[in-house]
Amino acid sequence: MYVCICNGHRDSEIRRAAASGIKSARDIYAHLGKPPRCGRCLEFANKLVAEVHDVVAGGAEQAAERA
Ligand code: FES
Repeated sequence: MYVCICNGHRDSEIRRAAASGIKSARDIYAHLGKPPRCGRCLEFANKLVAEVHDVVAGGAEQAAERA
């Protein structure tokens, strides 16, 4: 699904970049080579980033509990 119409960023590439450790939608867009333009997508994109980081943190927490 397209998250950013201005730049054509998809949720899958935003999630992938977030999983690599990038912390904000603006930084992810810069990483993808197309910075935000109108900015309307940033709130939703940042929710995706937070969601990915929550999952990664939850997985690390569970791994620590198992160790
Ligand atoms: S929709 Fe993403 S910058 Fe405009």
